[in-house]
Amino acid sequence: MRVLVTPDYRTLSRQAAEIIADAVRFEPRLTLGLPTGSTPLGMYEELVRKHSDENLDFSRVKTFNLDEYIGLAPGHPSSYHTYMHLHFFDHVRIPIKHIHIPDGAPGIDTDRESIRYEQAIQQAGGIDLLVVGIGSNGHIAFNEPGSSFASRTRIVDLARETRANAGRYFASEDEVPRRAITVGIGTILESRRILLLASGSGKSGAVARALQGPVSEDMPASALRGHFDVTAILDEAATPLPPIAGVIGRAW
Ligand code: PGA
Repeated sequence: MRVLVTPDYRTLSRQAAEIIADAVRFEPRLTLGLPTGSTPLGMYEELVRKHSDENLDFSRVKTFNLDEYIGLAPGHPSSYHTYMHLHFFDHVRIPIKHIHIPDGAPGIDTDRESIRYEQAIQQAGGIDLLVVGIGSNGHIAFNEPGSSFASRTRIVDLARETRANAGRYFASEDEVPRRAITVGIGTILESRRILLLASGSGKSGAVARALQGPVSEDMPASALRGHFDVTAILDEAATPLPPIAGVIGRAW
């Protein structure tokens, strides 16, 4: 695993966007795996800027989001559908048929949707570049501790810590859905290239365990150490070792 330590969140966001932009310029028909949450907000902002200022072209790119809450209509203000349109898709020219987000709407057949989504990824030829954050409990996408490293797209129960962290996006923590649909760790590991993003001191413990602790299903992000092409981009606050001031690209 390569580890880039950046001085701050803004630099982390720019580095992540630059890696995505380079990949899209090199392969305009790229398939991206995309995260939600607070960490990638700066990355999306930078990609939108590159789209308008540098003509970065997403018109042939395909995207697969990593997860969605179960029980929220796509138009719900806290759904990941809403997040993605608000922060990214509405600001770049990308055909709607290239956008894939798991459907967690009330009443859907969740098992069928899980199979459909996994198959859609396969039919697209797999994910070329997948971007993922890390939860303070070490989850990747919504693969909570205990998830099998072979897991595929499926319905999961959200951990208490995950729901507590998500409370800020809902009127109250009670309103955070208890279940979600998520790509599996096996699905993630089949991506050709992975970018792991972590920002802020709240993540340094999880980053330390994921990168330096035992590889274990108790720490889902540690699974990434078994993949041959992972780049972790951290800001200093999320870095468990004292960073070298001002140096971008320090590797452990
Ligand atoms: P965050 O979430 O970016 O909102 O911290 C990351 C995650 O839980 O995967």
